[in-house]
Amino acid sequence: MLNIKYELTKEKKAKPDENNLGFGIYYTDHMFIIEHTEGIGWHDARIVPYQPLTLDPAAMVFHYAMESFEGLKAYRLPDNSIQLFRPEKNAERMINTNKRMCLPSLSVEDFVQAVKAIVETDKDWVPHNDGTSLYIRPFVIATEPHLGVRTSKHHKFIIICSPVGAYYSTGINPVKIFVEDEYTRACPGGTGFTKCGGNYAASLVSQVKAHDLGYEQTLWLDGVEHKYVEEVGSMNCFFKIDGVVYTAPCVGTVLPGVTRMSCIELIKKWGYEVSEERLPITKVMEASKEGKLEEVFGTGTAAVISPVGELRYEDEVAYINDGKIGELTQKLYDTLTGIQWGKIPDDMGWTTKVCD
Ligand code: COI
Repeated sequence: MLNIKYELTKEKKAKPDENNLGFGIYYTDHMFIIEHTEGIGWHDARIVPYQPLTLDPAAMVFHYAMESFEGLKAYRLPDNSIQLFRPEKNAERMINTNKRMCLPSLSVEDFVQAVKAIVETDKDWVPHNDGTSLYIRPFVIATEPHLGVRTSKHHKFIIICSPVGAYYSTGINPVKIFVEDEYTRACPGGTGFTKCGGNYAASLVSQVKAHDLGYEQTLWLDGVEHKYVEEVGSMNCFFKIDGVVYTAPCVGTVLPGVTRMSCIELIKKWGYEVSEERLPITKVMEASKEGKLEEVFGTGTAAVISPVGELRYEDEVAYINDGKIGELTQKLYDTLTGIQWGKIPDDMGWTTKVCD
């Protein structure tokens, strides 16, 4: 259990217009920080006014990308109370990321306590409008000033929060996706399953290429053969082909998404067959030609459920469901967001109350 000290701000910021939040633009009044020192462990947990960090320019995070992060959301319910969605799953995933990245981790209990504490402190920032939430960004950085490549003796774990609307400017309207067959996101034995900033930095070249071609996002193929579908980078990806729902297996190169996991549980509960076998992109394109590619959608904390209307692979384009949101995609969106925003009962036991 953390002993958190509070230094609250005397100058609260003006709240942004809830109709125009965008994603990751505004930040709340406070942030959570805890230090980690080799030989001592975690110490000095505190909630302080949101402020810039002062770091030595030789801090290892700047040179060797020694950092990891998470993403989860707090939701305001119709009775004005606030809840989280499966925060312990983010805590567990961060532990797995940090093992791979040689970074220290908080226990699941301490991670969840810290998230609840910062959300409760800034509870007035959890927005009220439909489809809005408070995005929570925990991250760990290596702060020891040192230019040799080795593990760091000092780290900070920080949580910042941002009131957000939809991740994509298209909202729940279908996105256009470009299948990347030149660059690679992840290889077996690499960091593909982790939430480390380097994965995202390395993906930007493809995102720029996709944008230049008129597509919103990149669908990554496996790094060895460039044959099997993996993930979109900001989302996991699902394909409904002839009644069966496919998503890439989490075998080291795909991020084990909390929304992905929740969707699989719901889809199975509703009686569909879910396949986590590797799915060749050629099978997806063939299914499209045969009229069997029924739905494609992405899942993620930021993106929620995002229908895909168009997939481009080499010179072929698959148009999905006439650019309309599919039946299963809509049902998943309604059920998941219904549970998250407390509009339908949480019979899966997924939510955690922060405050009334
Ligand atoms: C999330 O869905 O929380 C993510 O971290 C994806 C992206 C914003 C990096």
